[in-house]
Amino acid sequence: MKALVLISKEEGVVYYANYAEPVESAGEVRVKVLAAALNHRDVWITQGQYAGIKYPTILGSDGVGIVESLGAGVSQEWLGKTVIINPNIQWGDNQRAQSKQYNILGLPKDGTLAEYVTVNADRLHRAPAHLSIEQAAALPLAGLTAYRALFGRAQLQAGEKVLISGIGGGVALFAMQFAIAAGAEVFVSSSSEEKIAHALQLGAKAGALYNQENWHKNFVKTHGEVDVVIDSACGNGFAALIDVLAAGGRIAFYGGGQGAINGLNPQKIFWKQATILGSTMGSDEQFRQMVDFVGVHKIVPVVDSVFALTDGAAAFARMAHGAQFGKIVVKPD
Ligand SMILES: NC(=O)c1ccc[n+]([C@@H]2O[C@H](COP(=O)([O-])OP(=O)(O)OC[C@H]3O[C@@H](n4cnc5c(N)ncnc54)[C@H](OP(=O)(O)O)[C@@H]3O)[C@@H](O)[C@H]2O)c1
Repeated sequence: MKALVLISKEEGVVYYANYAEPVESAGEVRVKVLAAALNHRDVWITQGQYAGIKYPTILGSDGVGIVESLGAGVSQEWLGKTVIINPNIQWGDNQRAQSKQYNILGLPKDGTLAEYVTVNADRLHRAPAHLSIEQAAALPLAGLTAYRALFGRAQLQAGEKVLISGIGGGVALFAMQFAIAAGAEVFVSSSSEEKIAHALQLGAKAGALYNQENWHKNFVKTHGEVDVVIDSACGNGFAALIDVLAAGGRIAFYGGGQGAINGLNPQKIFWKQATILGSTMGSDEQFRQMVDFVGVHKIVPVVDSVFALTDGAAAFARMAHGAQFGKIVVKPD
């Protein structure tokens, strides 16, 4: 089969026209992938910055495809259906946190950046009918992460004000779209004027350039404080997020791209009755809720670009450089 294979840290991902096809085990199905999408996780892994990296691996946690064959014990109802795949593996039953066995499709188990992928049949969901194949492929990992951070962890309510940082990101954009659909007033930050302008077209109220000095002071002067912040950067910029938070506010963060959080003032945090929440992916129940939410509100994922699998290395480079606005989709054909 055609596959994009992570060979080593030095060589990165390499396209193969004839790679061994996976075979479904009992309880699994084999899906012919119609479209996959990248997450920053895939880039971290190619850069050697992830736990448990093994070579060779087919990366890719997001996928949409057609169920082509069934392992023993799988219901015939799935055969020939177009499905999206829940990338969670062994989250478990606890809604508060994932199990110790938890892992994500695309490492260690081979993922969706290939012509075929095998997954357990209980990972399958019907793709929302209003979405194209590319849009549906963009949804799983980033949609789930945004849904849990926003609703599961930060408990966003209709009418509240929320700031989504780094709006060019795949998860950030879903968080913005979900928050708008839930009736919140949404503000964004970015490194790029152009990305802010794009977010305004999609329904954001206003935006700030997070790399300008004192952006947070100007933000509060102009727009007031916010009830919820959703972040994935952390690092030295995190302290400014406490400053934009209203009393009783919540910050949920799901990434730490800018490194350790420094310079937090404890007095500001306790006096504001602030809550700082770590969040990662989401439970299987939240995946179901997220797919339903997208269907009910007719949310359309923002697809930045579509690459052929043969051009996979260019798709990775685009994400590594942060040039994208929305999801980068990769198609086997
Ligand atoms: N824990 C989880 O379950 C989980 C799930 C998904 C993602 N993540 C993590 O979350 C991060 C984003 O993932 P993604 O897939 O959405 O990545 P992505 O599409 O590559 O987006 C990354 C975004 O981060 C923003 N950013 C960079 N520096 C920033 C800063 N100093 N302050 C605020 N924003 C900044 C950029 O926004 P602008 O371009 O607008 O400046 C960029 O677009 C990654 O670190 C990823 O590993 C974690």
